[in-house]
Amino acid sequence: MLLDKILEKYPQQEDSLLEILLAFQDAKINHFISEDEVRQIASYLHISEAKVCSVLSFYTFFRTENKGKHVIQVCGGVPCHVESDFNVAKTLEKELGIKVNETTENQQFTLEYTSCIGLCDEAPAMRIDDKVYTKLTPNKIKAILAEYRVYM
Ligand code: FES
Repeated sequence: MLLDKILEKYPQQEDSLLEILLAFQDAKINHFISEDEVRQIASYLHISEAKVCSVLSFYTFFRTENKGKHVIQVCGGVPCHVESDFNVAKTLEKELGIKVNETTENQQFTLEYTSCIGLCDEAPAMRIDDKVYTKLTPNKIKAILAEYRVYM
């Protein structure tokens, strides 16, 4: 199993927790860590499941839900809506064929809202995984999605 192979690379000590979580999430196709996997990691490191969960919830880049390979977060902040003459979420919904909070059938994209990304002066904005895109237009969104589709 993938998790077993990753665990055997790390010493059974609490200091390995963050590295194990990062390595495992990165290697797993859907990039999320399930409850069973939390149990297995806790057992391997001889720490509590609560400790593993506290690290997972502290760092926003960890996922504990099954999502698509790429998570698209549309900024739901007011400045992004005021500055936009089109609806970013609706454009993405149309392009992806899903609604907000859904995942495409091929498991490539999950679409969701997020709070302000912190780039209001370059609104409207969205984030795909850890990359932020600003000054969005319908054509720019299509071009961005095309780049991600190339590497599917
Ligand atoms: S409201 Fe969208 S980046 Fe701040």
